[in-house]
Amino acid sequence: MDKFVIHGGRRLTGEIEVSGAKNAAVALIPAVLLCDEPCILENVPDISDVSIGLRILYELGAQVEYLDKTTVRISAVNMTNYCVPYESARRMRASYYFLGALLGRYGRARVSMPGGCPLGDRPIDQHLKAFSALGADCSVNHGMVDLTANQLTGGQIYFDVVSVGATMNAMLAAVRAKGMTVIGNAAKEPHIVDLANFLNSMGADIMGAGTDVIKIRGVDYMHGSTYSVIPDQIEAGTFMIAAAATGGDVLIKNVTPKHLEPIINKMRKIGVNIEEFDDSVRVWVDGPLVRCNVKTMPHPGFPTDMQPQITTLLTLAEGTSIVTEGVWEQRFRYVDELRRMGADISVDGKVAVVEGTGKLTGAPVKACDLRAGAALIIAGLAAHGITEIEDIFHIERGYSNLDEKLRAIGADIHKISEPAASQKLKTAL
Ligand code: UD1
Repeated sequence: MDKFVIHGGRRLTGEIEVSGAKNAAVALIPAVLLCDEPCILENVPDISDVSIGLRILYELGAQVEYLDKTTVRISAVNMTNYCVPYESARRMRASYYFLGALLGRYGRARVSMPGGCPLGDRPIDQHLKAFSALGADCSVNHGMVDLTANQLTGGQIYFDVVSVGATMNAMLAAVRAKGMTVIGNAAKEPHIVDLANFLNSMGADIMGAGTDVIKIRGVDYMHGSTYSVIPDQIEAGTFMIAAAATGGDVLIKNVTPKHLEPIINKMRKIGVNIEEFDDSVRVWVDGPLVRCNVKTMPHPGFPTDMQPQITTLLTLAEGTSIVTEGVWEQRFRYVDELRRMGADISVDGKVAVVEGTGKLTGAPVKACDLRAGAALIIAGLAAHGITEIEDIFHIERGYSNLDEKLRAIGADIHKISEPAASQKLKTAL
């Protein structure tokens, strides 16, 4: 198992580039199944969730070819397989997008039911509700979700909860259905708009993405397209907080500042300076960080995927902050690890009370999920002393070349593989 070893306390300065958005890419990749011609995706992040998505496409019979490090050509023209088995699906929760894409293209899908998740209960009832509204028969047998439809027809879908995944899956299934689909109470995240833009670039007819009502007129044919994935808003936010937590001054490039507004607003309240440019933001600190309450909500609220990172920043601020998790049942598991680094945080259900101590100290810690891992990296960069982070495979699901990127702005962070890690331990003993 690999680890990150961080010698903390170094101020981050310079320029850092954000990669393509994970949560967009993991939906755009299955979306290629809907296309009758080859497609080219650009600005694809080099992360393990993308490799798994591409691997699933390959196993389904698609041709997948990297043209350069971030550009992939995919041809899903002559495919017959519509089954994603457990072994492939279990490695990436977003494999549920293959349900909507396969159903939309072939009227059949058989995808392993997504398993448990460290963030709490992750039902897919709203996804299935959408597929049923379009005329599909849905069942779960032996751990597999089975969807069949002779002819998908447009329908009215109204979600009981705002769900990113269910909204994207409804779009994927509806683009080739006969007639008009109307999705109400839709999610509005930037990656919803990105998926709509990609599908429209292939000839789909989707209106209203980014609002809570999306209308989709089904089309018979979808042509090839070359499309660039949007920048990753969460990776950008993570770098912004890393810059602030180390008292640094960093220009974060290849971002869409509009997507960062909820993060920018909160960070300014905490006392961080942020200057917005067309496709970059400069983040610097020249005064004390101060307390602030944060509640996570669906877009355009403060993103839940930035909650662990901002909680970490608040441990370094003056005063008491209250962080409320409004999306997931269990998103404070990482707090135990932050406490090992000297944070003073108490958690009651979905609410955390953070007493800013202004200081963290390095410690051996474990990432329990992707964004928890990002929070520990920020903590390690800001802390006095050495932090060793285990289980970094979680982090590599969603951050591309993170150690290399952070080193370029002055961080002392290195990835070491298990043999080296054991050797280091032996030496220390
Ligand atoms: C996506 C993101 C994830 C982010 C989350 C919320 C991807 C690949 N992942 O996850 O990083 O944290 O959005 O922004 O894009 N729910 C139901 N029934 C359903 C579906 C969801 O009750 O059928 C509930 C969930 O339990 C949760 C809430 O709705 O409480 C939001 O979940 P959802 O937006 O669906 O999250 P994901 O799309 O899985």
